[in-house]
Amino acid sequence: MNNKGNIILIGFMGTGKTAVGRRLSSILNMDFFDTDQEIETVTGMTIEQIFKKHGETRFRSEENLMVNKLANKTNCIIATGGGMVLDPVNIDILRNTGVLICLNARPEVIHDRVKRRNNRPLLKKGDTYQNIITLLKEREGLYSCSDYIIDTSDLNFDEIINEILEFLK
Ligand code: S3P
Repeated sequence: MNNKGNIILIGFMGTGKTAVGRRLSSILNMDFFDTDQEIETVTGMTIEQIFKKHGETRFRSEENLMVNKLANKTNCIIATGGGMVLDPVNIDILRNTGVLICLNARPEVIHDRVKRRNNRPLLKKGDTYQNIITLLKEREGLYSCSDYIIDTSDLNFDEIINEILEFLK
């Protein structure tokens, strides 16, 4: 399962994958990669610009390219975009490269977290809360490919980190 020693964070938008991944990387002294940030670096565009200029399909192919690239890494923490698991090919690649930890949260908690800085193209058009509900429904079951799932709704940041560290022991 975890044959390259990577720790991969998956889960819906606003569940804290990037912040948690960064903290874990400093505690565990492992390199950190965030697929969205890597895609922004490679394309020279923000995620919003990619969606706006080229559409979601182009973004998904960038994600696919990125996951293939990061699959060569060893002993890293990798935070993925919330839609990474939409493509079963990506799930297979990730499963072969590390342990998959899913962060989730109740819709109202997600809404509260993302509304502060809503730069997610899929949540921006129309009512953000409704978009969250719709996407969560569409993606139901997708995150079950993970080795461990944490509901972060009622946990503070340190509690999330500690729960992950306990699981990894
Ligand atoms: C997306 C999640 C975003 C980003 C893009 C699409 C999704 O990442 O990849 O806006 O489809 O769920 P975060 O989960 O880091 O917000």
